[in-house]
Amino acid sequence: MKILLTGGAGYIGSHVLNLLGQDGHDIVVVDNLSTGRKEALLYGRHEEFNLEETERLEELIKKEKFQACLHFAGSIIVPESVEKPIKYYQNNTQNSLELIRLCEKHGVHNFIFSSTAALYGDSATNGICTEESPLIPINPYGRSKLMTEMMLEDTSKVTNLNYVALRYFNVAGANVDLKVGQCSPNATHLIKIASECATGKRPGMEIFGEDYDTKDGTCVRDYIHVDDLAQAHVDALKFLVTKKESAVLNCGYGHGYSVKEVVETVKRVTGKDFEVKITGRRAGDAGTLISKAGKIREVIGWTPKYDDLDLIVRTAFEWEAKLS
Ligand code: UFG
Repeated sequence: MKILLTGGAGYIGSHVLNLLGQDGHDIVVVDNLSTGRKEALLYGRHEEFNLEETERLEELIKKEKFQACLHFAGSIIVPESVEKPIKYYQNNTQNSLELIRLCEKHGVHNFIFSSTAALYGDSATNGICTEESPLIPINPYGRSKLMTEMMLEDTSKVTNLNYVALRYFNVAGANVDLKVGQCSPNATHLIKIASECATGKRPGMEIFGEDYDTKDGTCVRDYIHVDDLAQAHVDALKFLVTKKESAVLNCGYGHGYSVKEVVETVKRVTGKDFEVKITGRRAGDAGTLISKAGKIREVIGWTPKYDDLDLIVRTAFEWEAKLS
């Protein structure tokens, strides 16, 4: 297929590009390299520009006649979104609006959107989120993504555009063959930070809050291996092409680990010790976010292979060591 992939040089986009490229698809990546890296582009042709450049985007979409668009480009850091809401509404909402508008206008009928568990905020009972749980995001990041889901839903009702919104839980680890991994320069994600500690790039780390209503007081998340998440996109694409309908799907394994459990796992798996300080809560954090994971398996036949925190941590650590 002829595919437009935005944000293909970033963490998740580059893992999906790796799978789609191996399958022989004809891919154009639009990425301005603001957080992504050129070396992560293992396949496809790269167009380096910002999605805000709508004239250039329209020219490309018009000329290439894509059959599908996978939209990864965006800003993804919860605490940063609290500090810089406009950046999130620009990069995530406004840019998505233009992209959806242009895809619809020029006949790109299959659209896959990187959505997020942050849409649920603290609304789900015991933090177990079904796709029907109320959508009450508690930070600008989640709100900026929710608006895009709404635009897709409304547009798909009255046009030929079909979409799959994948609501990612906590994506972590690196490609099992270590071809690609997470490279964000100022990382904020837990497993990445703990891996930086284990490789000696950071002297220590903080745990943000131990007064949540969870088993040990620290936040609980559903950590999913990035290669499994990438495969979900491949499955979603097949679903769109064969079924010609839309779906909104949680993308997680269905069980969670606390921050303390994750940090202990990193220390055990890597055999490295490092300093960990408990500090106050971080703005925008929900207590527990765990996917109720059945629907994605039923609807698109997703069968994850790496539901194993030790393996997630090992690949993250090995990638981090390879980077240094
Ligand atoms: N944490 C620490 N110390 C750190 C980093 C993180 O204690 O140095 C804690 C956070 O406070 C949080 C947990 O580890 O409780 C996970 O935090 P991350 O920053 O790794 O991830 P988030 O849960 O904030 O967000 C991630 C993605 C979002 C997605 C969300 C879904 O960045 O895009 O998972 O659960 F929406």
